[in-house]
Amino acid sequence: MAFIVKKKISGKEYYYLQKSIREGDKVKSKVVAYLGKDLQEAEKKAEQIKMQESPKQIEKKQETINEPTEITIEELANFCKRKGFIYPSGEIYGGLGGFWDFGHLGSELVNNLKKAWHNYHIQQRDDIVAIDGSIITNPKVWEASGHVSGFVDIAVECKKCHHKSKVDKHELDTAKCDKCGSEYENKGEFNPMFTTQIGPIKEDSTKAYLRPETAQLIFTNFKLVQENARLQLPFGIAQIGKAFRNEISPREFLFRTREFDQMEIEYFIEPNQPCPYVDEIKDTHILILDENSQKENKPAILMDLYEAYKKKIIKTDWHAYWIAKEFEWFTKLGANPNNFRARQHTSKEKSHYAIDTWDLEYNFPMGWRELQGFANRGDFDLKQHQEHSKTSMEITTPEGKKILPHVVCEPSLGVGRALIVFLLESYHFNKEKNTTILKLNPKLSPVKAAVFPIIKKPEYEDMAKEILKDLRTEFNCNYDKSGSIGRRYARNDEIGTPYCITIDENSPKNQDITIRDRNTEKQIRIKTKDLKNTLRKLINQEIQFEEAGKVI
Ligand code: GAP
Repeated sequence: MAFIVKKKISGKEYYYLQKSIREGDKVKSKVVAYLGKDLQEAEKKAEQIKMQESPKQIEKKQETINEPTEITIEELANFCKRKGFIYPSGEIYGGLGGFWDFGHLGSELVNNLKKAWHNYHIQQRDDIVAIDGSIITNPKVWEASGHVSGFVDIAVECKKCHHKSKVDKHELDTAKCDKCGSEYENKGEFNPMFTTQIGPIKEDSTKAYLRPETAQLIFTNFKLVQENARLQLPFGIAQIGKAFRNEISPREFLFRTREFDQMEIEYFIEPNQPCPYVDEIKDTHILILDENSQKENKPAILMDLYEAYKKKIIKTDWHAYWIAKEFEWFTKLGANPNNFRARQHTSKEKSHYAIDTWDLEYNFPMGWRELQGFANRGDFDLKQHQEHSKTSMEITTPEGKKILPHVVCEPSLGVGRALIVFLLESYHFNKEKNTTILKLNPKLSPVKAAVFPIIKKPEYEDMAKEILKDLRTEFNCNYDKSGSIGRRYARNDEIGTPYCITIDENSPKNQDITIRDRNTEKQIRIKTKDLKNTLRKLINQEIQFEEAGKVI
């Protein structure tokens, strides 16, 4: 709770904003801002501060007392290479711009990220099913979708520093070099789809494309999926998979690459069908930057997404709903809500298929950038495929009406960008100890637990190995018997292992072990037989660490 307090200093009155903050069992009051000498001004300022910090955000801030250490995107890339997460692709030959290889920890992290996305968007819902389409498909798909003719950028090169980039057609006259601010030279139109040929003999072969988005396979399979899964509107079809774009200037680590994974949902409704879930998003506050504010150079304002819909800043309830759900996905996995904002595309930047588009943007080290797109594609795609394939895409409603569904929202997220967010949010460098801790949500951590026998004797090592064997049937675990215990903790902290299990001098006798929590360094002692179940509950965040056993 925040309130204004008046203080008298040397006979003069000053106003401050004070907050009640819970610390353990106690509630303490802290001054959080100076509001000036005038009460009316103070009230205005207090309102502004409260607007910027919704109750949810204040709560979140208290949880994240330990803010992550700020690093550049290059430092993050170096860290990922050093620790075995991500390497430049084919580095022994000098790498290849826009392509990255994932090491053991990186591929585990990516798998966990995709699993978390699948669980939240598909497993936990009645209305979304998944597909897995092929990377190369009939090239007519890309003609129908408009990608062959409409997915075109202008290649540009800076007249001064020769930095290469791409711009949309409408930006050509105004765009300035992102490196040095000088003018660009137009190098001509460019379609970022990678081409390939199908068939071994060049003359007989067919030109085909590597898909530039996963979405189109959802549209081409739409009728089959709808009928097989017996789906009724509103419903969604989701897909996780590779996409390829021949980016002119791949850069900023995984932010802009030529090969990347997308996690996309096409959400279909009957035209104008209301969102039955919109009440769920009440009290979800996020910074909002609509088209008008951008035109008038105004800053983003913190708003309740439901209110933004009611005020028609966000035009449809579905758009507001999906922005809220995606924002929630990130924050539930530990991201700081203050680092996100929703920005509406200006009419000039919208894609060829979109009626209205919003981006969930993230405050990356290089500034606010698109993390995830939310386009309202209307009936553009189904109509195009219906016309080009001469196959009806209409479905029959329970009332017997034949309709062509509309994609009211397409939440589309790149795995690489999501990965950067979670790595930045969890990276902590302790200057005094010169150690790194990756405070990843345990669900995302590549290794869930590390098992250490403290004493180098068969009795302890055998017990540790037996525990390890049992845990490994369910979790990815490390075994480490070398070096000091501090060193073993440090090795696991820096790759994000949330729990370290030690078999100490009392373990064989008492059949118990200790678990150490990465974030707090607290330890509990529990019986070996309870370990697997406890670990599962801790990873799924069903219990607090202190409740899981006897704190020692
Ligand atoms: N189906 C819609 C679509 O593909 P998009 O805005 O071009 O829309 C969606 O891409 C998301 O895919 C982006 O928000 C971003 O997260 C990711 N993405 C797009 N291009 C990318 C690239 N070159 N490198 C990494 N991620 C990319």
